[in-house]
Amino acid sequence: TEVPVLVGQKTRVQQYSAKLLHGPEQTLTTIPGSFLGPVIRLQKGQKVRIHLHNQLSENTITHWHGLHVPAEVDGHPMYAISPGQTFVYEFEVVNRACMAIYHPHPHEATATQVYHGLAGAIIVNDEEETALGLPSGEFEIPIVIQDKLFDGQNQLIYSPGMHGSMFGFYGNRILVNGHPETQLDVASRAYRLRFLNGSTARIYKLAWDDGTPITVLGVDGGLLEQPENMPYVMLAPGERLDVWADFSNRSVGSQLVMRSLAFSGVVPAMGRGMMSSEAYGLPVGSDYAIFTARITKKVTDSPKLPSTLSKISRYSIGDTHNPNKPVPITISEGHMQMLLNGRPHAYNDVQDSERIPLNTIQLMEISHEQSGGHGMGGMGMGRGMGGMGRGGMGMMGGMMAMAHPIHLHGQAFQIVSRSIGSANEGGYATVNQGFINSGLKDTVLVMPGETVRIIKPFQDYKGLFMFHCHNLEHEDMGMMREFLVE
Ligand code: C2O
Ligand code: CU
Ligand code: CU
Repeated sequence: TEVPVLVGQKTRVQQYSAKLLHGPEQTLTTIPGSFLGPVIRLQKGQKVRIHLHNQLSENTITHWHGLHVPAEVDGHPMYAISPGQTFVYEFEVVNRACMAIYHPHPHEATATQVYHGLAGAIIVNDEEETALGLPSGEFEIPIVIQDKLFDGQNQLIYSPGMHGSMFGFYGNRILVNGHPETQLDVASRAYRLRFLNGSTARIYKLAWDDGTPITVLGVDGGLLEQPENMPYVMLAPGERLDVWADFSNRSVGSQLVMRSLAFSGVVPAMGRGMMSSEAYGLPVGSDYAIFTARITKKVTDSPKLPSTLSKISRYSIGDTHNPNKPVPITISEGHMQMLLNGRPHAYNDVQDSERIPLNTIQLMEISHEQSGGHGMGGMGMGRGMGGMGRGGMGMMGGMMAMAHPIHLHGQAFQIVSRSIGSANEGGYATVNQGFINSGLKDTVLVMPGETVRIIKPFQDYKGLFMFHCHNLEHEDMGMMREFLVE
């Protein structure tokens, strides 16, 4: 399949457009009236070639978030192309069925490009999934959630400034598939809703307004083994969620609202007061609607929810290369310097702990820097804060503590354990029933004070693979490192 993906500038909105040169029907579907890129549908085993034509007036490169592809076509910032240039991607789809994302990845400009419109969904199918007969066609609906800030002329505003860089930039309106106040007209039957959080920083606590549990079919890396009913689901930037939404017992004229419920603990109190969205009335962790499903048509037959969905091949800690010495991914938070492993993003700056032997399974531990435990993080890097160096960061760090969606390129990982420090239990209790730890993930929301252990394979491809915070303001600030697989 050959798909040219063009990026171009339309006044203040940047857009992906794509048209199919040749290949199977249905490879591209445009979401009507949306500025989002078309949905790219791929089949496991398919070989694809994609031409990225840069029609922006700035550099860009596209990353296939969630797809396991060679390093040279993974959208590493070092491959960013200039205006007018073309980058040709060629890879085989080796992933199992899943929803992935394509979005730009140039260093220091990812957030602004995604915000202005450059993002799209990729849906990968495979035989195992097809055999399940899940709702498809018009009954399978992508739900891309983004928040945006608009001015009086309904033009996008993106002005993170210092506080937006530290705490994330938040909009005053919620868009679904590029539209505000989304209403989905549905029939009284089961649907498959494919959620993607395409916001730069906003975290959602998704729930149906009448208390119906959310029936989860899958997450980032594809289907769960069996459906799971959740009271609510946390969805952080970069995460995906596959939902079975059954409207079959609902009457015509009724409606069901998906909301983001109230929660706390993801942004520090001092940060919240400074965020622009507070003034505009949509604070992070407040309760607001995402979209409304309105039942407009009675139908009599509906597919049945399968009791088994998939078989996930799992690794245990004993299968890992380093059962007693997890690879560290350390989060440190300071004034204008959110870092991973104590260092900002820099090309060719791979530390010993960031070198991974090819074809190994690695135990990894994502945790927060212990206050005062890291002498050189701020100062040694020449990015110190004068009198407020790392030593003074303990208290500062506590005040700034916030949640970070940590994303690792390459193959999906398993979550083996999560533990929360006692100082952060309060906020944690408002979110922790919304984590789905049973599926394969590529992005995990790490709460303040939380330690998450994961098992991740590094197979097939050598080279540099990014890992970073998917709060895109943090990523652009340098909260991004790379593993060298060798
Ligand atoms: Cu979705 Cu490296 O990003
Ligand atoms: Cu990615
Ligand atoms: Cu972050």
